[in-house]
Amino acid sequence: MIIYYGTPAIETERLLLGKFTLTDTQAAFDHWLSDDRVSDNRVSAAHQSVSETRERMNRILSDYESEEFCYWAIKLKESGELIGEIDIYDIEEATGNCEVSYSLGYRWWNKGYGTEALKAVVEFGFRHMNLHKISAAHNTDNPASGRIMSKAGMVQEGTIRDMIRNSKRQYKDCAVYGILQEDYLNKNGEAGRFLIKVCFTAR
Ligand SMILES: CC(C)(COP(=O)(O)OP(=O)(O)OC[C@H]1O[C@@H](n2cnc3c(N)ncnc32)[C@H](O)[C@@H]1OP(=O)(O)O)[C@@H](O)C(=O)NCCC(=O)NCCS
Repeated sequence: MIIYYGTPAIETERLLLGKFTLTDTQAAFDHWLSDDRVSDNRVSAAHQSVSETRERMNRILSDYESEEFCYWAIKLKESGELIGEIDIYDIEEATGNCEVSYSLGYRWWNKGYGTEALKAVVEFGFRHMNLHKISAAHNTDNPASGRIMSKAGMVQEGTIRDMIRNSKRQYKDCAVYGILQEDYLNKNGEAGRFLIKVCFTAR
């Protein structure tokens, strides 16, 4: 059975994962949502104006009412800067399976933050939420995303041709990855617990 905690605060070595607030709107727009270099790897188009980001943020804030909603802002512990987002979605009661997605502002790419955030969410999802399987897919022309999936222990299960059509109406082949709870816990044992600190009172 899945155990829901909503979106609790999670601390890693260098990052704080937590709920967004309305005051994050401008930084989310500036740091990744308005940037084609980020949105080209996602399904939705870059935001043209901060009002689009505000609308999106308002939807996220109201979704926090549900304890099944897992959508984290990623901030640097040292500076408090908002650098990206990561979420668990499409959680299926019947199977305990779900998807994960993430984005970071371009300025913070290739510093290991994506891997650190993904590992934290995988640990939280398996150890605390009791999820059965976490999956993700990346465009085959976005190998950095596949690399962080691998570093988080996910395994490529195949490639789906023309799996998505992006905002520029280009079809993209996607590599699909997954990791099972059983494999994760067998491999990481108790050591995984030390990857993150979770504040369960954050709701
Ligand atoms: C995908 C993303 C979150 C990765 O975050 P990140 O913080 O840069 O990731 P990390 O620094 O932890 O790791 C990146 C890895 O990809 C590798 N990499 C980067 N560019 C690469 C490329 N063109 N080809 C192959 N590997 C690449 C890096 O070398 C690194 O691997 P290494 O540690 O073995 O050297 C970030 O690039 C991003 O936000 N992209 C845009 C949005 C997006 O793609 N979201 C996911 C949709 S599926």
